[in-house]
This record gives sequence, C-alpha cells and structure tokens, in this order.
Amino acid sequence: MTADRISVGELQELLAAGQRVTVVDVRSPSDVDWGIPGSIQVDAYGDLQSGRLGPLAELNLPPGPVVTVCGVGRTAAIATELLRATGVEALTLDGGMRAWSLAWNVAEATVSGVEVVQVRRTGKGCLSYIVGSESEAVVIDAALDPDVYVGLLRERGWRLVAAVDTHIHADHLSRSRLLAQQAGVELRLPAQGRSRHPFRPVADGERILFGSAGLVALRTPGHSAESTTYLLDEAAAFTGDTLFLSGVGRPDLEGGDAQESAARAGLLHQSISRLLRLREAVLVLPGHASEPIPFDSQLSATTVGTIRNTVGLVRLEPNEFVEAVLAHIPPHPPNHSLIVDFNERGELPDDPSELEAGANRCAIA
Ligand SMILES: [Fe+2]
Repeated sequence: MTADRISVGELQELLAAGQRVTVVDVRSPSDVDWGIPGSIQVDAYGDLQSGRLGPLAELNLPPGPVVTVCGVGRTAAIATELLRATGVEALTLDGGMRAWSLAWNVAEATVSGVEVVQVRRTGKGCLSYIVGSESEAVVIDAALDPDVYVGLLRERGWRLVAAVDTHIHADHLSRSRLLAQQAGVELRLPAQGRSRHPFRPVADGERILFGSAGLVALRTPGHSAESTTYLLDEAAAFTGDTLFLSGVGRPDLEGGDAQESAARAGLLHQSISRLLRLREAVLVLPGHASEPIPFDSQLSATTVGTIRNTVGLVRLEPNEFVEAVLAHIPPHPPNHSLIVDFNERGELPDDPSELEAGANRCAIA
C-alpha cells in the first residue's frame, strides 16, 4: 500500500479478513456490469473528469479507509485526490476493475468425506475447485494463476495428481495446462479434436482417482460438444457451464447458424435432464456465478432438488426449452473467439486481464 494506492492483493486480504473498508465505484452506470462485493456505486464520472467531487461530496462515509475504483484506475485517482483534500482516508485501487478481474476468495465444505475447496474469481465469477482426499487432490477448471492453487494445495498438505477441465472455455483463459506443467501432472480434458496441444483425454464414464476418492466423468454435451460433468460419489456434481444455480449453459458459443445452436440446445436439454435425475440431495457445483462472489466463505452451490423446484427453464418440454434458450441468448462474452483460440492452443497471452476484461456471460436464466 503506498500513500494513496492499494493493490488488488491488499484489498482482497482486507475483505477476506472482514476488515472495515468502504469501496466506492465511480464508473459511469453504463460501464458497470460487475462490481466489488459490498461496493457503493456513485455516478460521479462526469464531475470527476471536470475536477469536482459531485455526488461523492454528499456521501456519508463511515470511518476507516475508502477505496475508490473505476475501469483501470485513472478516474478513481482523481476521486482519491479530491477526497483526501477533504480529509478522507482514500486509496485508489491500482489497475481498477480490470486488475480486480484476478481477485479471488475461497469457500470450503466436506462432501462425502472429500474436501471441496471452491476457488472463486470474485471479479469475474469463474468457479474452480480443488477436491482433496487423504494426501491427494485434483484441480477442476483452473482459472487463476497456478501459484494460487499450488499455495492452497501446500497449505492443506495435498499433492496434485491431475488438472482437469470440464470443457474448452470461451469466457476465460484456462490455466489448467500451465498448472499441470508446473506441478508435473497430467492435463485431463474431455476427449475432443479441438485442442492443439498434448493432453490425456477423459472418456465418458472414466473415473479419475485421487486418495481414496474418484471423480466419474459424465459427458453432458450442449454448451459445447465435449462438455463433461464430474460426479463425486453421487454426492456432488461439478457441472462446468452445463447447469448453473439458477440457469443453464448457452449453446451458441461454438459458432454455426441458428439451426446448429438449436441442435446443441436440444442436447443440452437431454444432458440437464440426465443430471436432474440424480438424487435430489446431490450438490451442484457449477463453473460460474452470475453475481460478484462475496467474501463470505459460503459455497456457491445448490442441490439438484432445489434446481428442479426453482429453475423454470429445466421443467420445460424439449421443444419449449430450445425455443426459450434461443430467445434469451446474452451478448457474446468479450473476446470469446480469441479466448477459445488461446485455449485450443493451450497458450496464455502476456497479460490475460486484457482479454478477460468484463463479466462472464455463460448462463441463460
Ligand atoms: Fe463455457
């Protein structure tokens, strides 16, 4: 922390420790699609650009530090300077929301004797998982720097045995290949012909073993052809982008025309119907959240039974489902074809946060 700036890592630590901090987001409302949990949105962009506090002057700020945030940190720096001139202990979030995209927190639970650590990219909504049994663990859908997972594994005394993805991602850059390389373990991807780098394919029905536990691969096509759900002892389902807490995956990101998207939506309906035939207590652990993930240590998860009762889309007949899904396709995630290309090549750009800016747009609710 310098005199008037705070890094993403430092703010993340303050929020994780539950310390008192007020985050003030000064972006124009039209630029806000994702925020920092608990932040206050103040439409002061125009005023700040003209060197005035505008509505920021009216805020009744509680005692303690105030962190100002904007897109990349420039307008927030003006807010910080003006607030400091009035005696407020203000700090600018270095790099703004673009840098915050890499912030994360964790939540943990024991499921069927297996430790599940949900590693949440709070600034983007990507959910990845470390599942550990005895001294071994598997990472599913690594979406953060490998060092994050290596650190969490070390803290728990777990040895990584495989890095696994549920599918080829279109909204964020997979870090699974790098993690596998760094840890000297196998990269396991659903069997498909798109990846242009070495990996060991996961076949439908295959069991990936770790400690005394195993993940069983269940092919669930629709969001993409290779999409795979990993089942943990019929107690939990890591559903990737097939099934979310309050919605379903989108079937259009593999390109093609409306007819192809309709065919994939039909497959998605079959896949989801298969998942919803699991026992109602089965925990659903998806690949994304649709809201910024609070620093609350609460697992972002639900059960098969709750989804059956609360998500109207999944109760539709196949034809109605296809129609409803196609009618609610959100805008494409920013840079999605470039991201897919990097993921198919198994490479990462020098600065991932540039390509990954913005919220995830994977779900149809
Ligand atoms: Fe996806």
